[in-house]
Amino acid sequence: MALTLDQRSIIVTGAGSGIGRATALQLAAAGAHVIVADLAEAPANETVQLVADAGGAATAVVGDISDPEVVERIVAAAVEHGPLKGVVNNAGVMDLFAGAAETDDATWERCLRVNTTAPFLMTRATVPLLIENGGGSIVNVGSAAGARGAAAGAAYTASKHAVTGLTKNTAYRYAKEGVRANVALPGGVETNIMGSIDGAKIDQGALAVLGPVHASAIRNATPDEQAALIVFLLADESSNVNGAVIANDGGWAAG
Ligand SMILES: NC(=O)c1ccc[n+]([C@@H]2O[C@H](COP(=O)([O-])OP(=O)(O)OC[C@H]3O[C@@H](n4cnc5c(N)ncnc54)[C@H](O)[C@@H]3O)[C@@H](O)[C@H]2O)c1
Repeated sequence: MALTLDQRSIIVTGAGSGIGRATALQLAAAGAHVIVADLAEAPANETVQLVADAGGAATAVVGDISDPEVVERIVAAAVEHGPLKGVVNNAGVMDLFAGAAETDDATWERCLRVNTTAPFLMTRATVPLLIENGGGSIVNVGSAAGARGAAAGAAYTASKHAVTGLTKNTAYRYAKEGVRANVALPGGVETNIMGSIDGAKIDQGALAVLGPVHASAIRNATPDEQAALIVFLLADESSNVNGAVIANDGGWAAG
């Protein structure tokens, strides 16, 4: 089945790497103009080049997505290449796997700001435009840690549970106005996510406790396997899928 994604712009945050880059490439191949938003300039430009090399269209916007001014620039680029019909809140950072008693303020603040506040800012800024454009789709990239307690530390787990809540509220609140919101919950994926933290600071005591849950993971997914679900949720063909919390973890959470 060919997916309908052409004649529209779609924002993908964190599209300089991993799941976001794979999503940008698949969306552009299906005809969307992709707004590649990332903190890191060179990787963002590289994604745009990869899209262009494959015959697609994309625009890079560089900056911290938890900064409302950056969100404004991202949205302006999407409007310029619009109509804006889709948003992927994908950029995210890990924590140090620590429990609440061992979590420092900076880790807590960063996880909540990037993983939760940024998707809220982007949702607030784009819902009115999606409504104006006759509807649209928001896909939040949550995590297995958005549904279970032993997949990460307290900060990341709390930030991803909040994303699931934001998704459900947005889905129900704006359903009659044509805006859909769904959340994908990846398990382990082969990306650079561990580069978002200082590996030397990982809480080994917490890992010793969480270890058995991690060991029960089936396998790591590829970024393309994650992108395939995200792309479907953005396409017109998923028009009745709204408020869904969808595991994409090879069966890990089913155990
Ligand atoms: N890799 C996994 O195992 C895994 C598992 C579950 C969920 N996830 C989620 O998938 C999403 C994508 O992660 P990934 O695995 O592709 O990681 P990644 O590190 O490969 O890519 C994340 C991208 O987000 C960007 N980014 C980080 N903070 C940003 C900010 N403040 N502003 C703008 N851009 C920023 C980074 O520069 C990077 O390019 C994240 O939300 C992550 O929590 C990943």
